Amino acid sequence: MPERRRVLVTGGASGIGLAVARRLADDGDRVVVADVDGAALHRLEQTLPGCVTVVADLARAEDVHRLAAEVGAVDVLVNNAGLQRVHPIERFPEEEWNTMLAVMLTAPFLLTKAVLPGMYDRGWGRVVNIASVHGLVASPYKACYVAAKHAIVGLTKVVALEAGARCADVTAHAICPSYVRTPLVEAQIADQARAHGLAEDDVLTDVLLASNSVKRLIEPEEVAEAVAFVCRPGAWSMSGSVLTLDAGWLAH
Ligand SMILES: NC(=O)c1ccc[n+]([C@@H]2O[C@H](COP(=O)([O-])OP(=O)(O)OC[C@H]3O[C@@H](n4cnc5c(N)ncnc54)[C@H](O)[C@@H]3O)[C@@H](O)[C@H]2O)c1
Repeated sequence: MPERRRVLVTGGASGIGLAVARRLADDGDRVVVADVDGAALHRLEQTLPGCVTVVADLARAEDVHRLAAEVGAVDVLVNNAGLQRVHPIERFPEEEWNTMLAVMLTAPFLLTKAVLPGMYDRGWGRVVNIASVHGLVASPYKACYVAAKHAIVGLTKVVALEAGARCADVTAHAICPSYVRTPLVEAQIADQARAHGLAEDDVLTDVLLASNSVKRLIEPEEVAEAVAFVCRPGAWSMSGSVLTLDAGWLAH
């Protein structure tokens, strides 16, 4: 493993990505954060000394290629950027479908394609995809999110197979959390409260956490801990693993 790893975290200006960037910087890694939100990246630079930021809209392939070229060699790639849109299929806007797939599937593919050759050359690398429990089970009205997350779990497995055949210490992992306390979920609480005519506290227990056996949101730092774990040297044997942090959702 390189002494000071170079890490790229996408969507690292907020939520889980931000916690991952902080956690890996604490481990001594050199962290690059890419995000579409330039103002949030500016704030991050003030609070995480040494962190390099790149403004990129990962829905645009040209931005993804520019990002890959600008960052160069990467030892740990964390594909985290994501967004949620909720509609019944018959009213799901095609444009939103395309944007979501571009950010949550095509961008991770293009970035993985760009960084893998360098990982093979250096004999060490980690591709960590922040999937979701929705990479393993479905919920209504989340057609694109569920499709994209199932697909990223599949992509993770292919990377693990191809990388494993080339180099034992180049690995791929899918992290599958259920609901995490981030702006992405906080927005859903307000939306669902309006849609169901419920108080926001009731949305949490009766809607979002209905399938969890443990009725609490996961903290972003707890997901970051799992990412740090699969990035440790001894984690090579977990390649291709799908790590569920689902508060008991799939135990039913
Ligand atoms: N919060 C949850 O409950 C939860 C659960 C499981 C998986 N996830 C996944 O974790 C990841 C992070 O989600 P979060 O909850 O931290 O959300 P968040 O909204 O807090 O952060 C997402 C980040 O992605 C960035 N982003 C969105 N579109 C982008 C684009 N086109 N180009 C570049 N950056 C873009 C946003 O600006 C933001 O900084 C997502 O992939 C999400 O699907 C979240």
